[in-house]
Amino acid sequence: MKSIKKQRMLTGDRPTGNLHLGHYAGSLKSRIKMQEEYDCFIMVADVQALTDNFTNPEKVKKNVFEVVVDNLSAGLDPEKITYFIQSEISSIAELTVFFSNLVTVSDLQRNPTVKNEIQEKGHVFKDGVVNLGFLAYPVSQSADIAFCKAEIVPVGKDQKPMIEQARRIYKKFNNLYDEVFPLPKGVFTEVSKLNGLDGRKMSKSLDNAIFLSDSLEVIKNKIMSSKTDTDNTIKYDTENKPEISNLIMYYQIVTGEPIEKIENKFSNNTSYKIFKEDLIKKINLFLEPMRKRKEYYIKNPDIVWSLLKIGNERANKEGQKTMIEVKKAMKIYYK
Ligand code: TRP
Repeated sequence: MKSIKKQRMLTGDRPTGNLHLGHYAGSLKSRIKMQEEYDCFIMVADVQALTDNFTNPEKVKKNVFEVVVDNLSAGLDPEKITYFIQSEISSIAELTVFFSNLVTVSDLQRNPTVKNEIQEKGHVFKDGVVNLGFLAYPVSQSADIAFCKAEIVPVGKDQKPMIEQARRIYKKFNNLYDEVFPLPKGVFTEVSKLNGLDGRKMSKSLDNAIFLSDSLEVIKNKIMSSKTDTDNTIKYDTENKPEISNLIMYYQIVTGEPIEKIENKFSNNTSYKIFKEDLIKKINLFLEPMRKRKEYYIKNPDIVWSLLKIGNERANKEGQKTMIEVKKAMKIYYK
């Protein structure tokens, strides 16, 4: 039987903290589906995280482990996914250098994602003064995708300019030297949609998140003390009832039920308490298998590190193959 070669998918996570419900809705959920269809590469982007955490490498290292465990716990099967660490893959660093020639400084300064992030990270980049590493992270991200010739790249909508930048680099390389890189397709997910418990975007740093590792006790406290309005109807109306709409959104994520069905279920409801109690139950049911898996990996860290070792080896092999083609195309192959 002839097997059809799966397309390669690559995506990355910056190791900057525990994953929460927003990550699940924004990326993990679609990854769970994609692992069946594609040859999946998931990279822990520690080099990228260092561009704005270079004074705190210990934090980055600790979170490398965390982020892999969170992905595994969410149900991303290590048999189907190659997990690896960016800094372990030398071809990514090499490609970054070659790609740097194909991008202008003003391209990078104009990149909307970079511009936004520099603003958001005002505490790191005071008065918008930014280090070269951060400014150039779109170049290094282009290398992340290219080293293994990934064709499908799922990312948050905010990362769209990154994929466009990467495609421009590959086109330029292919035209200038030789056809080496496929032009990858971005698959964009709505990351910014899910709000935290205070109505702002769900984020670890804003202390408003439901983490995938939260215990029942913690979920109870968070949901019971979350803000609601006074009219006691379970209606999805982001304009007039933003707080309850947000909680309905959580309900939808953890149960997969359509919003209308949730509204109907609680149409005779006379108190938010009943809804909240049911929501707590549903969140807990959803998180339970994840917490169990997480517990297992936390108790067996060697399993995680050995998975990464295997993944690093596989990724490096792919990268070495690509680098030979790259160097031949660039006429700097000296073997
Ligand atoms: N910049 C991405 C983010 O913040 C993470 C990332 C790094 C990535 N390298 C990548 C995503 C390569 C896709 C492909 O979400």
